[in-house]
Amino acid sequence: MRNWLLAAAAAAIIVAPTATMAQAPIVIKFSHVVAPNTPKGKGAEKFKELAEKYTAGKVKVEVYPNSTLYKDKEELEALQLGAVQMLAPSNSKFGPMGIKEFEVFDLPFIIPNLAALRKVTEGPMGTNMLELLKPKGMIGLAYWDNGFKQMSANKALRVPEDYKGLKFRIQSSKVLEAQFRSLGATPQVMAFSEVYQALQTGVVDGQENTASNMYTQKMHEVQKYTTLTNHGYIGYVVVVNKKFWDDLPADVRTNLDKAMKESTAYANKISAQENDEALEDIKKSGKTQLITPTAAEMAAMRKAMEPIYEDMGKRVGKQLIDDVMKTVNAATN
Ligand code: LMR
Repeated sequence: MRNWLLAAAAAAIIVAPTATMAQAPIVIKFSHVVAPNTPKGKGAEKFKELAEKYTAGKVKVEVYPNSTLYKDKEELEALQLGAVQMLAPSNSKFGPMGIKEFEVFDLPFIIPNLAALRKVTEGPMGTNMLELLKPKGMIGLAYWDNGFKQMSANKALRVPEDYKGLKFRIQSSKVLEAQFRSLGATPQVMAFSEVYQALQTGVVDGQENTASNMYTQKMHEVQKYTTLTNHGYIGYVVVVNKKFWDDLPADVRTNLDKAMKESTAYANKISAQENDEALEDIKKSGKTQLITPTAAEMAAMRKAMEPIYEDMGKRVGKQLIDDVMKTVNAATN
């Protein structure tokens, strides 16, 4: 009798958690490094809302903004290990994992506008690039925009000579490294979460980023000048852990795909306006002086940076650079 009771109690202990687990939602931890009120932050919140709605509570999305869980490099490692399920790193952050092709988007002036960018990301080229993530244990679900980058420093930056000898924080991309070297500056790779303090304490002299990233991290408060160069593009690849995604029940995955499609449309619809508003807020703050370079100054910048297209062909792939250029030119002409 006693044995029987013990066996029943043991069975109850084993059964009870299983029964609870059957009802427990599938949790997607979505970690990112920017503020909630940015294009990516808002896209992540939209995905949470739609994913939970379409799966009728079978999925719970926990969004962790502002590097609260992981910084740039760590978050990609955490995704591969399955400690988080979803991220949206910028194109510039895949190089250290051996996927250099996404750095094509870092080439200065390669993306003239968002309509031309869509021709790349929404066409076969965009799809082929996402395939590169699979051998690394990730699935690329979508491309999300941030927008175009501006330069900032405590010195007025107009022409290449102004950059000489200054140290700039960069994302972990060899193309961005080459970009600053072409201006005679020293690039320094640094996690996004550390940029504000590095600017404030003078560890670096300047940085490049979108208005929304600058404003929400208060970078404009510690940089005397911001030059409106729009010289480069920041966008994201929304990635999930491949095993996690493949193991999902088919109906759940279908609903999550739908939620991702709609949140992508939303994120890409608001991105330009978010950056326009952030730039207005930066202007209103009066903490940094905005510089609009002349056409001649911008031409000098383009000329200084041009040689890196040739050099970076070896890294990113000459064919890929040519294909992107052909596609964006067809979209703009
Ligand atoms: C940066 O590191 O500057 C940006 O890529 C951060 C982000 O995710 O927008």
